[in-house]
Amino acid sequence: MSAVLRDLPCFQRTFTLDELVDDVGRAVSLSARRPGSDVSEAVRQVLAEHADVTLPLSHAQWAGSPERYTRHLLHADPAGRFSVIALIWHPGHRTPVHGHRTWCAYLVLRGILREARFAWHAAQDCAVHTDTVTRHAGQTLAAPAGLADIHSLGNDSNEIAVSIHVYGVQGDQISTHVNHLVRGEMAG
Ligand SMILES: [Fe+2]
Repeated sequence: MSAVLRDLPCFQRTFTLDELVDDVGRAVSLSARRPGSDVSEAVRQVLAEHADVTLPLSHAQWAGSPERYTRHLLHADPAGRFSVIALIWHPGHRTPVHGHRTWCAYLVLRGILREARFAWHAAQDCAVHTDTVTRHAGQTLAAPAGLADIHSLGNDSNEIAVSIHVYGVQGDQISTHVNHLVRGEMAG
């Protein structure tokens, strides 16, 4: 859809997951043909343009689990270039401190997430907390592979939060080839 139509206040519609996936695929292909381009930023822009996407989740999937944040694979690219997942966060859920083994981008679809950010200190072999920022519904973030962007994402609110994440791995590698866990320390 053209950006002009999308920006018109009278032209409001909800995107489907298929439309989101098609646009992510186009962004990934375009980045692959442009040496030096930042694929994570290109995908982040696609997520921002589809911030009202509807997800084909069951009632039980939307509900998540109070035990830990739950992950639902929404799409695995047949060519293995990327995967799209939804995370359901109950209050108190939080990831470990981690960098990324692949590029990634995410969208807060519902609720509020808190992102603690860290800087890598190679000499100490640990990540030191720099700041914590609030991510509201509609906000998007991108991170390249590596330890330049280290964070811990969590739900410190009293409501369930939902986020969509796109990773540059095939569907069966999400658990093993995305998060690069590191030791995190609070500053001071
Ligand atoms: Fe992450």
